[in-house]
Amino acid sequence: MTTMLTVDNLRVRYPTRTGVIEAVRGVSFTLGRERLGIVGESGSGKSQTGRAIMGLTAGHGIVSADKLDFNGIDLLSISAKERRALRGKRIAMVLQDPKYSLDPVMSIGKQITETLRTHEKIGRGEARDRALAMLEAVQIREPKRVWDLHPHEVSGGMGQRVMIAMMLIAGPELLIADEPTSALDVTVQLDVLKIMDKLVSERGMGLIFVSHDLRLVSSFCDRLLVMYAGKVVEELPASQLNNAQHPYTRGLLNCMPQIGESRHPLPVLDRKPEWAA
Ligand SMILES: Nc1ncnc2c1ncn2[C@@H]1O[C@H](COP(=O)(O)OP(=O)(O)O)[C@@H](O)[C@H]1O
Ligand SMILES: [Mg+2]
Repeated sequence: MTTMLTVDNLRVRYPTRTGVIEAVRGVSFTLGRERLGIVGESGSGKSQTGRAIMGLTAGHGIVSADKLDFNGIDLLSISAKERRALRGKRIAMVLQDPKYSLDPVMSIGKQITETLRTHEKIGRGEARDRALAMLEAVQIREPKRVWDLHPHEVSGGMGQRVMIAMMLIAGPELLIADEPTSALDVTVQLDVLKIMDKLVSERGMGLIFVSHDLRLVSSFCDRLLVMYAGKVVEELPASQLNNAQHPYTRGLLNCMPQIGESRHPLPVLDRKPEWAA
């Protein structure tokens, strides 16, 4: 498998008055046309890893790496302009809440066509046709009706599908999905993830799927990175999850409820200082 992304010793630091917060502490992995899951509890550095790849680290954050390469492009040395051109066009990111990613005052159809026309020199008619086709691809049944709606007029699940349509319309090679469905009901979550998974597979894209939900990640990914305190503590094929070695991964597994099981007392996730060392 050809590698599209190489992340070697990625670090993200935030200087504060009381010291430096190390959000990501030497993360390394490679990605081909495959689905990689990044799991770990809240605060383990998953989002900061995704945002650093996307070039969306907050202004005062310091990103460093021995290598951060996307298809031969050194992501650490390109200009802000080159970054913007890459973002959306070749690397896209879906976030948890479409409320923060969709423009509340612009109709859905307009947002999607404008995204497309930012990246490609095409006419309005063609942009409209492609946007309608994309809305159908995310299984929006009446795309012409949804076209004129504003983001607040659609349900959470539909909003997230619109977001996926907008992120995929320019045909990116890599999609970073950061807790893309965590704000949705469980049944809607699975529908949206299945649609995303189908589109990513059909297009032969690479996917980084970030979630705190180990079960969800393992069912949608080929390979898993388990993060703890800004580091990768374990990397394994999703199919090997039950053979996970690291006590933190085993702890996460043990905390996942099984259907039909009654537990007294509920298991508590154990944490050892040496895991963060
Ligand atoms: N803008 C920021 N300034 C300072 N620290 C931050 C900032 N953003 C994130 N962090 C810190 O980085 C760490 C990792 O955060 P994050 O990657 O969002 O975790 P996760 O996505 O795994 O829940 C957290 O300890 C968080 O407090
Ligand atoms: Mg996060």
